[in-house]
Amino acid sequence: MTQAPEAPVALRQDQSVALSMAAAGKAQLFDYRQAANPVRRGLTEPIPEGRWGPELHASGPSAILPLDLSDELDCRGPATSPALSANFIRILAGETISAGANATSFLFYVWRGAGRCRRPAGALGGPVDQPWSQGDLFVLPCGEPAQLEAHEESVLYWVHDEPLLNHLGVSADRPRFEATHYPGEWLRRELAALAADPSSARSNRLSLLLANSDLPRSRTVTHTLWAMYGLVPAGAIQAPHRHQSVALDLVIACAPGCATLSGPELNADGTIRNPLRMEWEPGAAFVTPPGHWHGHVNESGEDALLLPIQDAALHTYLRSLDIRFS
Ligand SMILES: [Fe+2]
Repeated sequence: MTQAPEAPVALRQDQSVALSMAAAGKAQLFDYRQAANPVRRGLTEPIPEGRWGPELHASGPSAILPLDLSDELDCRGPATSPALSANFIRILAGETISAGANATSFLFYVWRGAGRCRRPAGALGGPVDQPWSQGDLFVLPCGEPAQLEAHEESVLYWVHDEPLLNHLGVSADRPRFEATHYPGEWLRRELAALAADPSSARSNRLSLLLANSDLPRSRTVTHTLWAMYGLVPAGAIQAPHRHQSVALDLVIACAPGCATLSGPELNADGTIRNPLRMEWEPGAAFVTPPGHWHGHVNESGEDALLLPIQDAALHTYLRSLDIRFS
């Protein structure tokens, strides 16, 4: 690495800002070979494969419980990946939690319980008053904190993109979509219809991708977030796939014997080389890092449900999703 000389010469008058920056000693030059791939341990940390069991949200007072890997990622927390923050929100019956973030997208999935989401009218939009119950998913654009009132003891999975905005050094100030509710009853009915379709008979991947008509190009749930309501049938062994988006997976329901296998490389036969096996439990969450080959297996005798939330809408906009199947 080379530091800029104290007083670079031959800068034109209109480059006086650059001159003062260089003089302050910030300008550097690296040999390409030292800096071409800064994603490595000790520099830009690779994304770890975090896992959190359901005991995290099984008991205790009302609280927001971040799935925080910010120390490992060396970024401002709480963050579960460089762009996203996943949290469980535990709310006792009759209590209210305020869920606020400097984020473009708030996504809530009701893992259990029932209640109501209120957001007062603010400078960025009108009021929200949405009842929710088990299996519902709803998204809010940037704005005031969501006030989550629980009518019965509840656990919600909350994903937002504040870490991305922290990195950019910006505040969200322009809603890009309207608050949208996906009733659990509708999701369950549509997934059952998909599973019953004759064309699904040989598929080991039966999933609904949640979309918003405000975002017709990406077919995603918000302009940064991607959400899939997925069934992994009993006996399924999925062929591996990979993508450049990170997946923050919530296990909705399963019996023992379900897992996700993941790893950075494939064997010649298309299976994952030395895979890490993430065991599923209902209410557990785990991270699948970008670029890792992964597939779900269901060795139990019952169907299983998974909700991966990804930053795939952002990658789609950047044309960097690069999804591939083995
Ligand atoms: Fe995936």
